[in-house]
Amino acid sequence: MKRLRAAVLISGRGSNMMALAEAARASDYPVTIACVISNRPDAEGLAYAARHGIAAKLIDHREFASREGFEAALDRYLRAEAIDLIACAGFMRVLTGNFVAGWEGRMINIHPSLLPAYKGLHTHERVLADGAPEHGCTVHQVTAELDAGPIILQARVPVMPDDTPETLAARVLTEEHRIYPQALAMLARDIQAKTST
Ligand code: GRF
Repeated sequence: MKRLRAAVLISGRGSNMMALAEAARASDYPVTIACVISNRPDAEGLAYAARHGIAAKLIDHREFASREGFEAALDRYLRAEAIDLIACAGFMRVLTGNFVAGWEGRMINIHPSLLPAYKGLHTHERVLADGAPEHGCTVHQVTAELDAGPIILQARVPVMPDDTPETLAARVLTEEHRIYPQALAMLARDIQAKTST
């Protein structure tokens, strides 16, 4: 079966993108990481992509007068690259309903909490402040409402008594790197199954 072409959207470190690129090296993985797109020039993940022979594209949101202008440029690039799937991985721009609608069912995100709990930013700090016994991460479909799309996969981790936001984030991140490649493959196989009939 033909591998689907994925774009990974990043804004920074890009460790989840690296996990996806690593998984995609397996010949039976249903997705090729065709390009990595950052909205920030200083995103460390861009250099990694370039070093690994993945198209690394900067689309700097500050060069556009409006959110719509930025999204139009992003959409043009994705379509020019014949992208089938989008994986957001630490991408720190909110996408409008209009853009999201154009990629419905083909765009996913990883979020560092057990959604629907702890939507938004600073999840590790908020979990610790609440004294919650467990935490985790979620891969979900992107919909117009932030961090609210259908859930594909989750992983749970315990919260330890001496955790700091950093130690807790590291425990969650290990699980992110494990489930994100699995979730992207699940979505790709689902789309392949639907389009092959
Ligand atoms: C991850 O914790 C992800 O869940 C969140 O932002 C962080 C990005 O890390 N959305 P990285 O850029 O993938 O290393």
